Amino acid sequence: MKPADRPGLILRYTAGERTNHWIVAISFVLLALSGLALFHPSMFWLSNVLGGGTWTRILHPFLGVLMFVSFVLLVLRFWRHNMLNANDRVWLRHAGDVLANHEEALPEVGRYNAGQKLLFFLMVLCMPLLLLSGIVIWRVYFSAYFPIEVIRVSAVVHAICAFALICGIIVHIYAALWVKGSVAAMTRGTVTYGWAWKHHRAWFREVFRQGNK
Ligand code: HEM
Repeated sequence: MKPADRPGLILRYTAGERTNHWIVAISFVLLALSGLALFHPSMFWLSNVLGGGTWTRILHPFLGVLMFVSFVLLVLRFWRHNMLNANDRVWLRHAGDVLANHEEALPEVGRYNAGQKLLFFLMVLCMPLLLLSGIVIWRVYFSAYFPIEVIRVSAVVHAICAFALICGIIVHIYAALWVKGSVAAMTRGTVTYGWAWKHHRAWFREVFRQGNK
């Protein structure tokens, strides 16, 4: 990533990366709401999001495939920035300082902090499990090929992974709103020098080392 053309701003996400992220995010929200509608009668009213019960049952699995494919592309773009290193262990030991906004007590953070990286791996674990279990319980096309025990276990795996991912994404959205300036990174693509210096100092230094070459 190079410093953006506009003075005082650094490019954090290209248009392609942002489009990819928002396709995953929008499909995730639709999937979570329609999935909850299918999960329990008390939440069936959420099926209105996709146009009623029948449409929910038809569209939910196809949306799942769309989300999985776009998520794989997102992982290919970002995985190398999410490798855990020695600094991340120190960062995790200082989780209390993170929550208390004492960032001066933390080691310099690279492109992503340890919390973001762990969430990334939660997504990487849950997404394939959701897809595989989802295929087994996709009645119209695939369920007939599996014994009932496998279908039952898959329904449980699907629910557990969906629950873990919904909790994880709630934390992800909360963190995006809590760290002021992060949402602009994913909408406009840029962050200010101040944001990068405060939250991702090692990445800030790296951007300028590369920019100055
Ligand atoms: C639904 C609302 C969502 C919002 C408001 C949101 C917001 C954001 C923001 C602001 C960033 C930039 C953070 C930074 O650069 O430090 C980001 C990054 C990212 N988001 Fe989201 N996001 C949402 C949903 C999702 C979903 C559903 C997924 C995947 C399941 C996802 C996966 C990612 C990934 C992989 C990154 C890059 C961080 C990393 O690689 O560790 N996001 N998101």
